[in-house]
Amino acid sequence: MDFINFYKPEIGQEEINEVTECLKSGWITTGPRVKQFEADFINYMKAGKHAVALNSGTAALHLAVEAMGVRENDVVIIPTITFAATAEVLRYYNAIPVFIDCREDDFCMDMDKLEQTLEDIFDGRKVPGLPDNHGPVKGIMPVHFSGQAVDILRCKKIAKKYNLFIIEDCAHCCPSYFKDEDGAWKMVGSTADIACYSFYANKTITTGEGGMALTNNDKLAERIRVMSLHGMNNNTRNRFSQNGSWYYEISDPGYKYNLTDIAASIGIQQLKKADSFWEKRRAIAKIYSEELSGVPGITIPIEQSNRKHSWHLYIIRVDKDVTGVERQDFIYQLKELNVGATVHYMPLHLHPCYRDTFNLKKEDFPVSVRIFEQIVSMPIYPSLTEGQVKYICKAVKKIVCK
Ligand SMILES: Cc1ncc(COP(=O)(O)O)c(C=O)c1O
Repeated sequence: MDFINFYKPEIGQEEINEVTECLKSGWITTGPRVKQFEADFINYMKAGKHAVALNSGTAALHLAVEAMGVRENDVVIIPTITFAATAEVLRYYNAIPVFIDCREDDFCMDMDKLEQTLEDIFDGRKVPGLPDNHGPVKGIMPVHFSGQAVDILRCKKIAKKYNLFIIEDCAHCCPSYFKDEDGAWKMVGSTADIACYSFYANKTITTGEGGMALTNNDKLAERIRVMSLHGMNNNTRNRFSQNGSWYYEISDPGYKYNLTDIAASIGIQQLKKADSFWEKRRAIAKIYSEELSGVPGITIPIEQSNRKHSWHLYIIRVDKDVTGVERQDFIYQLKELNVGATVHYMPLHLHPCYRDTFNLKKEDFPVSVRIFEQIVSMPIYPSLTEGQVKYICKAVKKIVCK
């Protein structure tokens, strides 16, 4: 078996044709294709009045935090198992991320612990990492980890009680669904104050690099749009078009986060395939789960009954006490057998940047640390064949059933 990559982007002739047309069109930066991608995204999500395309998911999170008015010493609550971006956008403003432990069964932020932490903060008790001179608690940034929704209904109730904003990190969720209070299926992110998506190369749909901020709020959308282009009140397309004017004013020092039409060309075609990509990832997840369930020492991911997983990531747990194999060694042995695998993610409170700045200890978030020591992300992408998935499962069994 040839080496099976951990990830492979699915770029077809449609994407190539659209990019070629864009290149030939004479307009390659933010313009008509970005506009179309934004409109298509709203349509696909069946929600959200405004979609602002940006050049990364991190940019979407950054501008969301900016639009919510996060400032120095403000406190924002995030899970400890997430990518660097969720926390770093808070540090851009010297705001304080307060971490929450994650759940054993879906690795998402634990809502009981979120509630307890907020109670502790508001009652003046100490919580890990929170300095005494902290500012007001402003918001919560839940992460729909690996593509399975957090308990967003409960999160919203908690946010309402404490008057906090919610920015949903939907980087793993295009598409993913949860059941609303009335039993209806809703797209993850479609009911958010602001939902931030990523189109990085290994995401469920890609633009190479790219992101989207989705919101129903006119003012937030306008702020994100203006700040994505230097704080200018007149966009490039208007300025250079026949009927446009060169004149613009700068309201605030903004950023350069706009998506190009070249990238949007890929996104337009990827979005058309989002459901068929999803079907293929679901089928792969099913094979993995059938093949690996019951293997001693391996725990397979469980899709909750009120969720539809995007299967951006298929994460298994390897218990070394049962298998006799350390996680690191397991990944190494998979590589020897021509299978690429990786880890998402080392909890942020273990990284020197957060550990040392906020004086955090490993044992502050014990469930996340326990999860982290066992997790392995397996290959999952539409072009992975059934034969390859079965080969991977055989390789797993060969390593752990010695
Ligand atoms: C949970 C999470 N949030 C945010 C991001 C940032 O997205 P991007 O790489 O598009 O900036 C990522 C990317 O991997 C992510 O996994």
